[in-house]
Amino acid sequence: MQVRFLPSFPPIFFGLGAVGKIGEALATTNITKPLIITDKGLVEYGVLNHLTESIPSNIDFSVFDDIPENPTILGVENSLNAYRENGCNGIIALGGGSVLDSGKALRVITNQDGRLHLYLKDPSKITADVAPYITIPSTAGTGAEITWGGGIHPDVDTPAFGLRSPYLKPDIAICDPEITRTLPPKLTAATGMDAITHCVEGYLSNNHNPISEAVALDGIKRVISYIGRAFRNGDDMEARENMSMAAIQGGIAIEMGLGPIHALSMAFSDAPLHHGTLVTVSMPAVMRFYNGLKGDKLDKVAIAMGLPEGDNSGNRIAEKIEELNFEMSLPSTVRQMGYKKNDLGRMIEDASSSHFNLPAPKKPTKEDYKIIIEEVLG
Ligand SMILES: [Fe+2]
Repeated sequence: MQVRFLPSFPPIFFGLGAVGKIGEALATTNITKPLIITDKGLVEYGVLNHLTESIPSNIDFSVFDDIPENPTILGVENSLNAYRENGCNGIIALGGGSVLDSGKALRVITNQDGRLHLYLKDPSKITADVAPYITIPSTAGTGAEITWGGGIHPDVDTPAFGLRSPYLKPDIAICDPEITRTLPPKLTAATGMDAITHCVEGYLSNNHNPISEAVALDGIKRVISYIGRAFRNGDDMEARENMSMAAIQGGIAIEMGLGPIHALSMAFSDAPLHHGTLVTVSMPAVMRFYNGLKGDKLDKVAIAMGLPEGDNSGNRIAEKIEELNFEMSLPSTVRQMGYKKNDLGRMIEDASSSHFNLPAPKKPTKEDYKIIIEEVLG
């Protein structure tokens, strides 16, 4: 058996009340003057307060609450100013994927010379000299709280550059479902569906890793069992806790690689669309494209999703995802998300040239992508 790679992940404080471990996390990472980066919504909903109340009184922290909805170079550079002006020596990222990815970029440029562009173009330039970094996810889906990579947009409507390095692995993650309690139903649905795409694409990838594969199948089961409950009742902490776990499991699965669902997000990256919504809208077309895939992996995904054993697993998985999207009032096409552009040739090019295709068990040709994109676009 050829196992490509068994990655390592940060230590995680997990469960209701885990945010109370922030003092221990700060002590472990030798952070005495943290910069908390977050967004305005989390300040408004009182989530920031919930965190700061748990920070030991002898710790003098600063807050930068202006990370945009999608991570941009400007957002990271502005947070760097706050970091330097306040003499900080470590970062706590409290937020969704945008905040967590911005924190990964910020930790690189706090100590290392040069502008962020340099590292976005060549992440191999990142060294171990990064600021200590604690992640606290406020959504359950991206897995960014534990992964080594991220994406930063040069501008709001330009495609993200990937930032990937073992030195980006957060030092400690604190996953407290309580922090996700106020996440609105639509975002609960969309970010949670991102987690299932990570589990499915990671599991189906060509990179064999039985440990991560078992984790991915469990993550699929968890999303299917709990996402509806978390969507319908945000105070259902059992559902929230299981979704937080599924997000971590998706983060583990990502390390096996992704696939066409995520490659498609590159086709529409010239507009600021929500990532989780985009991938769940894209998933059914890719599952239909995979229908009939050699081996039994699609069948195992279908079983993990609670579907009966049978033929045409790819098609049946697609239908199940469409059903879930419909039940949670998610859009069914990219047009319904407000995407207005028409340049099909450029979309095909951007999807088919994406690195996300590399580990795919069946790589769409340009002709395949034309059919898939026409379906996804609507
Ligand atoms: Fe994703």
